[in-house]
Amino acid sequence: MKALVLAGGSGTRLRPLTHTAAKQLIPVANKPVLFYVLEDIAAAGITEVGIIVGATAPEIRAAVGDGGRFGLQVDYIPQSAPLGLAHAVLTARDWLGDDDFVMYLGDNFIAGGITRIVDAFRRERPDAHILLTQVPDPTAFGVAELGADGRVLALEEKPRHPKSDLALVGVYLFTRTVHEAVRAVTPSARGELEITDALQWLIDTGRDVRSTRITGYWKDTGNVADMLEVNRSVLDTFVTRVEGTVDAASELIGQVVVEPGARIIRSRITGPTVIGADSTVTGSLIGPYASIASGCSVLDSEIAHSIVLDGARIDGVRRVEASLIGREAVVTPALAAHRLVIGDHSKVEILA
Ligand code: DAU
Repeated sequence: MKALVLAGGSGTRLRPLTHTAAKQLIPVANKPVLFYVLEDIAAAGITEVGIIVGATAPEIRAAVGDGGRFGLQVDYIPQSAPLGLAHAVLTARDWLGDDDFVMYLGDNFIAGGITRIVDAFRRERPDAHILLTQVPDPTAFGVAELGADGRVLALEEKPRHPKSDLALVGVYLFTRTVHEAVRAVTPSARGELEITDALQWLIDTGRDVRSTRITGYWKDTGNVADMLEVNRSVLDTFVTRVEGTVDAASELIGQVVVEPGARIIRSRITGPTVIGADSTVTGSLIGPYASIASGCSVLDSEIAHSIVLDGARIDGVRRVEASLIGREAVVTPALAAHRLVIGDHSKVEILA
């Protein structure tokens, strides 16, 4: 069995960070979302992985390499443009051959991984197996309608009037039958070849499409609120580990990870929180639920419930909350008026 990981696409909902960076590489608890995906695949006993890449291919390649450190053998499959999930399967046709495969969207996060579902698929080998979960707002997802016996009757992509609250999770298992289905579909209203339409084609032509409802934690990390929520759930699993230095005037409360080379000076860090390698925190209150990446400098500031990316500098700023701060960004107080240099599509909320 192979794995096809989708790491192309444009990530408009995470702009401006995704103007320059792949959304699948934005870290939660200091590890890119894509790495959790690759670890899940390795844990399920799959070693051959094809990663669909688009405009951000160089960055994805640089981060993942040949996959060796995950115990995987990774090949890269360039997609001409993000023309849909079914288009990605079409693009990967030669690489997939006639093998069964799991398709895992590179921005999805599933607590507990995929091992059980992959094992069941290996045993039963239906034409397709999908995962469903209840969500409060199904209009943002593919939505399934189930019959009284639990069989999948119909699937609809981002319906305006959803027929259920069961969303398609971004993990799909297929036999080679899917190749016939992706060749049969035509572009949707949003101009994409939808995997939901390919699945509907399989249902309509009498193939065996099964579903499993997952009740554990699942998030499509497509927007900032979801990223912050996944960040919280991962940090909750952390246990205290201090590999950097903490001076005598500082205090660590709860589960706090201080990575190698990080320095905590005259500060209080409330867990769960992670301070990345070679970052310096001075005279600050950090946490709970803060992930500070590597090479950051936080001075005389307060940050909680936030993700701060590599090399950012936060100096003299009180109560930063629910924020996602990009690489090498600088946040400092102003003397008289707000002074902003903000990239395209940024969002800034300032206390009035
Ligand atoms: O997250 C689950 C949802 O994922 C499902 O409920 C939907 O049925 C499914 O269509 C999909 O919806 P999204 O609109 O969230 O998909 P998105 O465009 O964000 O793409 C998902 C991932 O696949 C993302 O990592 C980018 C990558 N991708 C996307 C497209 C359209 C590609 O690599 N190539 C593509 O052509």
